[in-house]
Amino acid sequence: MFRSWYATCPRGAEPVLQRELLDLGAKGIRPGQGGVRFTGERETALRGCLDLRTALRVLEPIGEFPAANAEELYEGVAKLPWHELIAPGQTFAVTATGRAPGLTHTHFVELKIKDAVVDSLRARRGARPDVDPRQPDVLVVAHLARGTCTLSLDLAGDLLSNRGYRVRTVEAPLRESLAAAVVFLSRWEGRTPLHDPVCGSGTLAIEAALFAAARAPGERRTLACEKWPRTAAEDVAALRRIRAELGGRAARRAAEGLPPVLASDRDAEAVAATRENARAAGVEVCVSQADARTIEPLSPPGQLLLNVPYGERLEAGGRKQLKTFYHQLGTALRRLPGHGAAVLSGSEDFESAFGIRPRARHALWNGPLRATLRLYEL
Ligand SMILES: C[S@@+](CC[C@H](N)C(=O)[O-])C[C@H]1O[C@@H](n2cnc3c(N)ncnc32)[C@H](O)[C@@H]1O
Repeated sequence: MFRSWYATCPRGAEPVLQRELLDLGAKGIRPGQGGVRFTGERETALRGCLDLRTALRVLEPIGEFPAANAEELYEGVAKLPWHELIAPGQTFAVTATGRAPGLTHTHFVELKIKDAVVDSLRARRGARPDVDPRQPDVLVVAHLARGTCTLSLDLAGDLLSNRGYRVRTVEAPLRESLAAAVVFLSRWEGRTPLHDPVCGSGTLAIEAALFAAARAPGERRTLACEKWPRTAAEDVAALRRIRAELGGRAARRAAEGLPPVLASDRDAEAVAATRENARAAGVEVCVSQADARTIEPLSPPGQLLLNVPYGERLEAGGRKQLKTFYHQLGTALRRLPGHGAAVLSGSEDFESAFGIRPRARHALWNGPLRATLRLYEL
């Protein structure tokens, strides 16, 4: 059925998600803040859950009503046909964002919505559904803005950035969908070698390798909607077809040969984490322990992706040390003519200390932290 959908993403990644949705064949694309509205067949939204790299959720709106206070919110939620949306024995959970004049605590909003769903189902069935915040069969997503509540169901039931390959982590990992946005914004086409010399747990290198291999980031994901009472049969059949198609795409790409993807870090823990995560993702990443300041040119010249240390917890002397590191990194990268570099940094000291003029800048939010992605032609 042709209808309206909403895909959420990290703030700043909206233009990239917009492009991804266009490629999927979505129509009526309208970017907002932290998400993109679109229209299309159900199949487009399902495909999005498996194949969108920058999306966090794909949402199916189920209701919109005034909710300036707790009573209005409860009444609006209770009116929806929950018996058609949650089957007997199924679990659910609620997650909310935004606020209204009389509703300023997200947790309270979630509890109020949960109560309305439970009361409505108990009145109809005589039994109350269980709440499972970890792996709900139905995840209800609420957004409050301008006195209105928009309720949706999350087709996947979990954040699409949880790809399942992060088996080991080190400090300050990037969210996978944000790392994918960096890969897209770098304009690397996945045909030349790529290196992340400050790889941490390897997110940028792994997302780059998945992209180059035309692998769907959600290829192994089971979607919550495959169990929903109204749509399960239709969705299971459609997803079987889409998974086969996406598998074929990756196989054709693999047959053409994939470019080398390198990752390094000076920290042994990070090197081990990247190795394990890449193995879990099923991608080939050549991982080594090295100082980024001794980086060697790629052959042929290719793309560098870096999420440099921010140093938000640094003591006074640390800030100076970090500036020196940025400067030395700039000097090292100048020795790599013909390469492209995309550097994500949350530090206001970065650009001047690095000392190379970027050809473009993009603001991207790493959770609550505003970071800047700078693109360089070396
Ligand atoms: C912000 S983290 C990268 C996080 C990564 N993008 C992820 O998703 O896990 C920065 C990394 O830079 C590494 N690093 C710091 N100084 C370095 C140096 N001189 N050479 C190589 N790596 C360095 C740190 O060990 C850390 O893992």
